Amino acid sequence: MQVTQRPERAVRLRRLRRTDAIRELVRETRLHPHQFVYPMFVRGGRRVREPIPSMPGQFRLSVDELVSDVGAIRGLGIDAVLLFGLPDAKDPAGSEAYADDGIVQQAVRTLRAAHPDLIVMTDVCLCEYTTHGHCGVLRPVSNGTGVRDDDVDNDATLELLARTAVSQAVAGADVVAPSAMMDGQVAAIRRALDETGCQHVAIMSYSAKYASAFYGPFREAAGSAPQFGDRRGYQMDPPNAREAEREVAVDLAEGADIVMVKPALPFLDVLSRIRRMVTAPLAAYNVSGEYAMVKAAAEHGWLDEPRAVLEVLTAIARAGADLIITYHAKEAAAWLRRR
Ligand code: PBG
Repeated sequence: MQVTQRPERAVRLRRLRRTDAIRELVRETRLHPHQFVYPMFVRGGRRVREPIPSMPGQFRLSVDELVSDVGAIRGLGIDAVLLFGLPDAKDPAGSEAYADDGIVQQAVRTLRAAHPDLIVMTDVCLCEYTTHGHCGVLRPVSNGTGVRDDDVDNDATLELLARTAVSQAVAGADVVAPSAMMDGQVAAIRRALDETGCQHVAIMSYSAKYASAFYGPFREAAGSAPQFGDRRGYQMDPPNAREAEREVAVDLAEGADIVMVKPALPFLDVLSRIRRMVTAPLAAYNVSGEYAMVKAAAEHGWLDEPRAVLEVLTAIARAGADLIITYHAKEAAAWLRRR
């Protein structure tokens, strides 16, 4: 009789992959809707639901529609939204960003009243509000060469970002999220919030925000593409990872409560690196272009959308994100419930 040679020393890893229950038992990373932040675009009007072509399933919503959609997402276990405003009018100084009756301020007040325990986060930036589409105000150049993207005036912009954050906080925002990538923006906002009785309002800083091609659909949605030049004079250069550590360190020193890496998928290495560096809560922004890629492939039947989306979101959590800002939040929450 032939005796089968048993590989005594072979490590057997497959034992813990046998059943759904065992896999669940030893799972290292779990997704939960409580960690999702759902980004939403708000505009003027009533009963408006304007689809965003490059972001299937996402809309520009009037405030009334926003309130009813938030009701639906809360039913799925999502507790946080991040608001972006689409003003009726723009100007070079982006004044609708910090107007007391600006679109985001109106939306925050209405949401606050309708959903008292919702976590309301607001994006603090000028690019949706400026006629030139840059994230700050421009310093005119006198040498006759015209205005270039590196002429966004850092310190003049700080004051406007601080005003924007305060007006959103006063309207009722829980968390303000500066995304303009101006140096000193967290310190300026913290100081302004503290001076206006908004000590309780937290800052989630877009600390490591890269100059990425993956913001394309968002810029279409928000009408915020720069009218000349690009954002490389203020957003981070994608090849740099050590510099992300510097950005994060500076933001924490300036008083950021939550730091962020953005985009998520092309920068998972940066996310995992920042995770090892900080104890503060870490957010990752799964941006519009990442969403559009999955949606487009799924629409062609080239990907199994629920599996692909949950795999992407799991990867972001595994790399170290505590919070995941994602347009997939609604669908992902529903799929997680069924799993
Ligand atoms: C505003 C802002 C942008 C995004 C978030 N806040 C656009 C940009 O920097 O051009 C992008 C979000 C996304 O692509 O989903 N500065």
